[in-house]
Amino acid sequence: MGQLFTDLQAVRLDVEANAVIILDQTSLPGEKVYLSLSTKEAVWDAIHRLKVRGAPAIGITAAYGIYVCCKSLRARKFDDFYKGFVEIRDYFESSRPTAVNLSAALERMERCVLRNRELPVSRIKRQMLREALAIRDEDAASCHRIGVYALSLLRPGMGILTHCNAGHLAVSEYGTALAPVYLGQQQGYNFKVYADETRPLLQGARLTAYELRYAGVDITLICDNMASVVMRKGWVQAVIVGCDRIAMNGDTANKVGTSGLAIMARHYGIPFYVLGPTSTIDRRCPDGNAIVIEERGSEEVTDMWYARRMAPDDVKVYNPAFDVTPANLITAIVTERGIARAPYNETFERWFGEEEKD
Ligand code: MRU
Repeated sequence: MGQLFTDLQAVRLDVEANAVIILDQTSLPGEKVYLSLSTKEAVWDAIHRLKVRGAPAIGITAAYGIYVCCKSLRARKFDDFYKGFVEIRDYFESSRPTAVNLSAALERMERCVLRNRELPVSRIKRQMLREALAIRDEDAASCHRIGVYALSLLRPGMGILTHCNAGHLAVSEYGTALAPVYLGQQQGYNFKVYADETRPLLQGARLTAYELRYAGVDITLICDNMASVVMRKGWVQAVIVGCDRIAMNGDTANKVGTSGLAIMARHYGIPFYVLGPTSTIDRRCPDGNAIVIEERGSEEVTDMWYARRMAPDDVKVYNPAFDVTPANLITAIVTERGIARAPYNETFERWFGEEEKD
């Protein structure tokens, strides 16, 4: 795992160069291209075009990005500096709407700025650096804990189906949905993983298959419409997915196609687990109806990246990037604080109470 973690870093901060360095995930698996982002437009574009993607990685990029951009602000008075901060915050927030980690990270950076408002601007910037690095480190620690809890739900030799990419490339180190896979790999669990290719942007084929192979995990790639086949054959004992936003009742937004998998898993009697940090739970969201679902361009459906156009010109296209899985189809939600089962509200409220005391 060590090699995977050091060879492929989705996001890092180059303090000396004052830039966010990302691995351009639109170039994978063909090429490993690192991009250096030092303007707000470059950060926005990288998030919007999925050069960096996955809910936690987007949050970390936004935190690093707002630090980098605010460091270049010339303002000396707090009010001027804060005005610049708010402008960048609003701009970043407009890059992608569904993953709550983006706004959660920006809100945390804002609390840091406001908490330190009495300090000279140069010292506020230093505090922002510490906060951004803390967001990344806490994320990595959370992923490991999520993996430990999730592994307790699994048995050696199981077949695991996953969707999209909620692994190392989407977060830091262990990832969320793939954390128990990596921990299991270290402990000889010999899981057999099935990765949905995840149309339209193929995060499963391009990223999950890539990173799991890199780590030597037994991985089989399937098209999205084959999930029912492998379930029916008895090859899958658990479905494990990540999440972009969890409502207080447990309804969960994740990459489009996730809710269909949950319906199939219920049909075949297979447990369906959602894995993610508590920062993905949105206290302001009572249920899935309140989650804004990103809609993306039609060309993602009509044109393949590596081939000719596959649909008639001007065909009407519907391309929601995420969907909401209702809480009643979710067996358990696993976070760094533990394993929640329905009714989710009660456990989430308790976790938030504990968080406030920490
Ligand atoms: O559009 P993407 O690639 O950002 O979608 C990513 C997902 O849906 C992931 O499952 C989710 O963000 C969790 S990542 C740990």
